[in-house]
This record gives sequence, C-alpha cells and structure tokens, in this order.
Amino acid sequence: MPQSNRPTSTYQLAGRTVNRIGYGAMQLAGPGVFGPPRDRDAAIAVLREAVSSGVKHIDTSDFYGPHITNQLIREALHPYPDDLVIVTKVGAGRGEDASWIPALEPEEIRRGVYDNLRNLGVDALDIVNLRSMGDIHAPAEGSIEQQVTELAELQRQGLVRHIGLSNVTSAQVAEAQKIAPIVCVQNQYNLVQRADDALVDELAAKGIAYVPFFPLGGFTPIQSTVLSNIAETVSATPMQVALAWLLHRAPNILLIPGTSSLRHLRENMQAAECVLTHAWLAELNKMGLGNSEPLPAAAR
Ligand SMILES: NC(=O)c1ccc[n+]([C@@H]2O[C@H](COP(=O)([O-])OP(=O)(O)OC[C@H]3O[C@@H](n4cnc5c(N)ncnc54)[C@H](OP(=O)(O)O)[C@@H]3O)[C@@H](O)[C@H]2O)c1
Repeated sequence: MPQSNRPTSTYQLAGRTVNRIGYGAMQLAGPGVFGPPRDRDAAIAVLREAVSSGVKHIDTSDFYGPHITNQLIREALHPYPDDLVIVTKVGAGRGEDASWIPALEPEEIRRGVYDNLRNLGVDALDIVNLRSMGDIHAPAEGSIEQQVTELAELQRQGLVRHIGLSNVTSAQVAEAQKIAPIVCVQNQYNLVQRADDALVDELAAKGIAYVPFFPLGGFTPIQSTVLSNIAETVSATPMQVALAWLLHRAPNILLIPGTSSLRHLRENMQAAECVLTHAWLAELNKMGLGNSEPLPAAAR
C-alpha cells in the first residue's frame, strides 16, 4: 500500500464551505471564448451535472462570450442553490474581432458588475475578481488602487459580496488588502507554470484561496511522459494526476478545470480520489523546475 497523503476535500471560500474541485465555465462560450457555443445543449448539461455532482464553486465572467457564459449559467442553474458560490470577474471587454480589451476605468468596472448582475440574474454577486490586464496571462506590477476602491464602493452598495483579484502580484494583493478584504486570487498556475509558488504559500498562510487558471494547461492541456507514466501507475488519467498534484500542493488551492464534455467533467471530479505519494509528488515537482523559484520544503 503506498504511503497515503490524501489532501482535504473542502476549503472556506468567502465564509462558505466549497469542495476544492469546482468548475471553470469560460470555454463554454465557444471557440476562442467568443460565441456562439459549439453545442448549447451540451453546455447546459455539463453545468447541471457539475452542480449535481458536487461543484459548489463556478468561475465565470461576463466577458466570456461576451455575455454567453453567464447566460448559459443562468439558463442551466437559476434559481441558484444556496450553497453555490459563483465567482465572476471584471476588468476586460471584447472587441468584435474577439480581442481582449482592458476595461479598468472605474465606470467600466461598474458597468462590468452591472453586466454580470443582469446576465447571471442576481441582485448581488458572490465574489467579483478584479482582472488586472498587466500582461494577458502574467501579472505586471502597477497600482490597482483605483479599481479595487471602485469594487469596494460597489460592495458597500450591496452589489458585490466579496472581492478577489486575478492576474496579480504579491504587492498588488497587499495594496488591495489595505482597501478591502480579499478572499481569493486567480492566477495562471499548474504543474509546469510555477512562477507563483511563493504567492501560493503566502496566501495559504493568510487563509486566502488561490485559484489557478489553466489548471490543466489551458487551450493546450499539458502533455508529458512523466505525467503519463505516473498516471498509468496510479490507474488515473494524466489530467486527473495534474489536478491531484494541485490538490496536494497547498490546502488553499481551489480547482476550476474547464470542460465542455461530460466525460471530462466526470473524470475531473474524480481527481480527488487520486492520492499521490511523496515519491510521486517529488517526480511531478521536477516538471516545473526552471519555471519557478525553489519550492518550499513542505511541498518537495
Ligand atoms: N482569470 C483569468 O484570467 C482566467 C484565464 C483563463 C481561464 N480562467 C478560468 O479558468 C478556468 C479553467 O481554464 P481553462 O478552461 O481555460 O483551461 P484548463 O481547465 O486548464 O483546460 C481546459 C482544456 O482542457 C480540456 N480538458 C478538460 N478536462 C479534460 C480531461 N479530463 N481530459 C482531457 N482534456 C480535458 C478541455 O477540453 P474539453 O472541453 O474537450 O474537455 C479544454 O480544452 C476557465 O474556465 C476560466 O473560468 C481564468
């Protein structure tokens, strides 16, 4: 029997208990995250099965589609279960050519919140992430005070319950925390993209959720012989092992793998059953070397 190392299955997100395996709805919008969806009925079925199989945390934005992902969530799930936390984000818009356009002026932040409220069909948003647009998939330093202040004002008005951040640095988290409580950070991170190793640990110590985007590698899921070999050894799929590694990495990591396939959804939900020994974790950790600072002792 291999040495057991089972991670916890739940975490407190904005004061509510969520299963650590949630669901990322972005790619339901259609190719290039720009509508129309490939298969609308399949998207609705995936959302419904996600929730019926235990997902309590769905990640979305009104700029996915645009509007389409939120409209699908509303059609599939409204009225929402009390224990479902829907996390959305503001800070970007879409051009007619599907480009991603920064929308970080205070009035654009406000409009983004109104768009999310309308298309999700709610009076208040559970969590709104400010999506910093420093670089498209990597954070860049720079003040986010103006944007967080606007979100804090919307929070005072009761339109936003909790505030999170996306695509940010440690310094930006600290800056935002002086303005309002921050409940989660969503940055790019996975087995082979480990630039945020230190931030993961810093947020774990503060009790702030870290939600990696592209947990499976994004539009081109991770492929590696090491991953495939370990997957075979533990009778799991490579994507289950990639998710399991994140679950083992730190207790504050919440997963939002995206899929438009019921088969993949079921596979991803089962990743919690994939318990990795210290030896396998050590092998997997080597995959990210060169992309990060050295891992802290506890994660090696
Ligand atoms: N804050 C940000 O800036 C930001 C940026 C990007 C994404 N996000 C959020 O993060 C979530 C996750 O990102 P993501 O969906 O782009 O990337 P991801 O979860 O890393 O990977 C999704 C890709 O993996 C495939 N996939 C999913 N499960 C699979 C499985 N079991 N086996 C094989 N392939 C599988 C999906 O294809 P199929 O559909 O065929 O399964 C899709 O192509 C998004 O939904 C979004 O909510 C946030």
